[in-house]
Amino acid sequence: MFFLAIETSCDETAAAVFTEEPRILASVVASQTDLHARFGGVVPEVAARAHLQRLLPIIDETLRQAGIRLEQVGCVAVHNTPGLVGALLVGVSTAKMLALALGVPLVAVNHVEAHVYACRLAAGRDIFPCVGLVVSGGHTTLFRCTDALHFERLGSTRDDAAGEAFDKVARFLGLPYPGGPAIDRLAMEGDRNAIAFPRAMLDEGYDFSFSGLKTSVLTYVRKHPDAGNADVAASFQEAVVDVLVTKARRAAREVGATGVCLAGGVAANSALRERVLDACIADGLRPFVPSREMCTDNAAMVAAAGWYRLRHDGPTPLSAGAIPGLRFPGI
Ligand code: KG4
Ligand code: ZN
Repeated sequence: MFFLAIETSCDETAAAVFTEEPRILASVVASQTDLHARFGGVVPEVAARAHLQRLLPIIDETLRQAGIRLEQVGCVAVHNTPGLVGALLVGVSTAKMLALALGVPLVAVNHVEAHVYACRLAAGRDIFPCVGLVVSGGHTTLFRCTDALHFERLGSTRDDAAGEAFDKVARFLGLPYPGGPAIDRLAMEGDRNAIAFPRAMLDEGYDFSFSGLKTSVLTYVRKHPDAGNADVAASFQEAVVDVLVTKARRAAREVGATGVCLAGGVAANSALRERVLDACIADGLRPFVPSREMCTDNAAMVAAAGWYRLRHDGPTPLSAGAIPGLRFPGI
C-alpha cells in the first residue's frame, strides 16, 4: 500500500510517499524561511497562506518523484496536532479531501511523536525501548518509548522550547533567523566555558525550563557589552546541551531504555549531536541521531507514524479537526 503523507504544522510545506516495509519512496520539503526571515520569526497568517499556495504542487511533485499516480494512494496521513492552527488546517483539510475523493483511510498523527518515528525510519531497524528527546522551536519533550506504539511523556518544557530560546538569544545577539543554526556556527569560534550560565532544574525531574537562561544571557550581555558574541553563543549553547543530555541520560537509566533517540529541529545542533553520541558510548546505550534533514520538519516522519498508528488505532474519522495544543493518546 502507498501512503501519502502531508506536513503543514509550522513553516515547512512537505509531502512524502511511503510504502509497506516501511520505506520512503519520495520526500519533498519546501521551507518558508525566506518568507519569515524579515519578521525574525514565523508569522502564522503568512505560513498558512504559503501552505495553501504550495501544498498541491508539492504533492504533485512528490507523486512524480515516487513514480506513482494519485489513484494508487491507499492511505493519507497528516499531522493534526500540535502546531499553528491556520497552518494545520491547510494540511488537515487537504488530507481529508484526498481521503474522501480517493475513498481511502485517513490517519492523523501527533507531530511531536512523529519526530521520534523519524529516528526509526533513519535507523532502518528497531529502536525500541528507547528514550526519545524531541527538541524543536515549538516543543521540548522527553518520552519513554516502550515500543513503536506506546509512548509515555516523561517531561516537557514549562516555558520556552529549546529552539525558541536559541531563536530569541540569536535575535538579541543580532544574528540572522533562524537563530539555532546561526548560534551553532558562531559557537564553534567561542569558548563554551567562558560564562557559567544557569542550568535550570538540572537534577530535578524531567521537565525543562529555558526562560531563565534566556534572561540570564540578556542580562549578562547588557552588563558586559564587551563580551564576545562567540563566547556568549558557545556558553549559552553549552548550558542548553548540558540540561538536555543530563536529563535524557538519567531518563534512560531510570526507565531501563536501551537507546536514546534525538529528534526535532534542535537535534541538528552540532554540539548536541556530539554530546548525545558521547553519552551513549559512555553509558552503553544505542544512539539514534538521524540526518539533519530528518531532524527538521518533514512528511516522511508523518508517513512512518501513520503507518504504525493505522495498524494500532485504525483510521481517523473525517470529523477530526486541527488541534493547535498538544494531544497525546492516553496522556
Ligand atoms: O522541528 P523544527 O524544524 O520545527 C518545529 O517544529 O519547531 O525546529 C525548528 C527549530 C528552530 O527553533 C531552529 O532555530 C532550531 O530548530 N534549529 C537549531 C539548529 N537547526 C535548527 N537549533 C540549534 N542548532 C541548530 N543547528
Ligand atoms: Zn517539529
